[in-house]
Amino acid sequence: MRYDTLIRNALVIDGSDRPAYPADVALLEGRIARIGDLQGAVAGEEIDAAGRVLAPGFIDVHTHDDTVVIRQPQMLPKLSQGVTTVIVGNCGISASPVSLRGAPPDPMNLLGSQAAFVYPRFRDYRDAVDAAQPAVNVAALIGHTALRSNHLDDLYRTATAEEIAAMREQLRASLEDGALGLSTGLAYASAFSAETAEVLQLAAELSAFGAVYTTHLRSEFEPVLEAMDEAFLIGRQAKAPVIISHLKCAGAGNWGRSPQLLASLEQAAQEHPVGCDCYPYAASSSTLDLKQVTDAFRITITWSTPHPELSGRDLMDIAAEWRTTLLDAARRLQPAGAVYYGMDEADVRRILAHPLSMIGSDGLPEDPFPHPRLWGAFPRVLGHFSRDLGLFPLHTAVHKMTGLSAARFGLKQRGEIREGHWADLVLFDPARVRDVADFKRPQQAAEGIDGVWVNGVRSYAEGQANGRRHGRFLARQGDLREGFNG
Ligand code: ZN
Ligand code: CU
Repeated sequence: MRYDTLIRNALVIDGSDRPAYPADVALLEGRIARIGDLQGAVAGEEIDAAGRVLAPGFIDVHTHDDTVVIRQPQMLPKLSQGVTTVIVGNCGISASPVSLRGAPPDPMNLLGSQAAFVYPRFRDYRDAVDAAQPAVNVAALIGHTALRSNHLDDLYRTATAEEIAAMREQLRASLEDGALGLSTGLAYASAFSAETAEVLQLAAELSAFGAVYTTHLRSEFEPVLEAMDEAFLIGRQAKAPVIISHLKCAGAGNWGRSPQLLASLEQAAQEHPVGCDCYPYAASSSTLDLKQVTDAFRITITWSTPHPELSGRDLMDIAAEWRTTLLDAARRLQPAGAVYYGMDEADVRRILAHPLSMIGSDGLPEDPFPHPRLWGAFPRVLGHFSRDLGLFPLHTAVHKMTGLSAARFGLKQRGEIREGHWADLVLFDPARVRDVADFKRPQQAAEGIDGVWVNGVRSYAEGQANGRRHGRFLARQGDLREGFNG
C-alpha cells in the first residue's frame, strides 16, 4: 500500500478528550487511512512529526466569515491558527438568503457592504462557496435578522403573520438545501423588537430537519439569565438543540455571575440538548452600540465610516479631542465598530473551562483593526490558557475545538482522528504554540502551527499558506440532536 502522506512519530491528540498517544498517521485520498506503528509503510510525502502534536483541524463554530470565504478564499487568519472548518451565519446575520433594498442594516454590515450581499437563496450562497473553493470547509446557519431584512419594511417591530410565513418559507428552503439551523441576534436593535413568539414560529421549522438553534442572547448584561430562559424555552418548544453564542457576563455590574449562568446551562442540559460557545478574551467586539457606551471600561474604535482615520483609537481620547461626551462622540462616529473591555477575566476562565463550552472565535474579518480573536483565538486557548495557566489539559482544549464541536453540529467524520475520517489535521508544537495577535497589533499569524491539512491536502506549512485550497461546503447531515448525547 502506498499512501499519499505519512506523518511519522506524532503525538496524537484525537479530539475525543482522551490524552495524547504516539502514532504514525497515514493519509489516502483525502482521508485518514491508518493510525498506528507504520514502520514499513511508504508514501508520496513523509513528515517527521517528532515532538509535535497532531490534532484534528480546529472547527471555528462561531464566525462571521460568510462573505470572506468567497472574497478572500485563502482564509489566512483561520488557516494559520489550524482552523479547517468555519461555521458562518451566527448572531442572526447571514449572507443568505438575502435581498437587500439598500445598505445592510446594523449588524449585517459586519459582513460587508451592500455589494457583498448577492445571494437571494441559500442555494446561491452554497454554489458561490463551492465556486470560490476556500481553503477551509464551510457550514452555515441562517440568520433571523437576515430573514427579517427580506420581509419587514421596519425592523423595529415584531413581524406580522404574513411576514412570519414568508420567513418560514425561506428558512425551510434553506434547511432543505443543507443549512445547519437558525441563528438569532436578539440583543441587536434590528431584532430586539421580535417577540419570543416570532422566533418560536420560525424555530418550529427546525425539528423536521434535526436542525439547531443558536442565539446571541437578548441580553448579556443584567437580564442574562432571563435571556437564557427565553433561548431554552424556544429550543424546548421547537424540539431543537440550543447553542448559546459567546456566553459571557457583560458589563461591570454583571461581573462574577458566571457560576449562575453555568448552573442555568447545566440545569437546562438535564432535560434538553444545550451548549454554548465562547472566545478566550475578556473584551468583546461588534458594531458600536450607543447602549453599551460607558466610562466603566475602555472602548476602542475598530472602524468608522465617517472617520476611518480613527480606527484603533480609544473612544475616551476621541471624545476628549472633540471636547464632547462619550455618547456624542460615539454618535458622530457611526456607523462604526468597537472593542469593549467589558468582561471579568475570572468569568471568562470559568466559562472557557466548562465541559459544555466549545471554542468559537467570533472574529470579524471585515474590520480594518479587528479584535485579535480573529487571528488568535485557537492558539490562545492551547498556549495561554492550557499550557501557561493550566486551566485544563491540552487534550481537553483540543476537544473543545474539534470532537465536541463536530458532534454538536453533526459534522460527520470530522473532529476526531480516526481511520476513515476526513483528513482535516493540524500539526503544532505544544511548547511553542501561542497567539501573537494582540489588541495593539491584531493581524498577526500564530506561532507554533507547523502544518494544516484540509481534506487530506497540506495547505499551510512552515508558517505560510501554500495556495492550496481544498475546503468544501458541508451540508447538514443527519439529526443534530444526536450529537448531544454524552
Ligand atoms: Zn454575537
Ligand atoms: Cu457573533
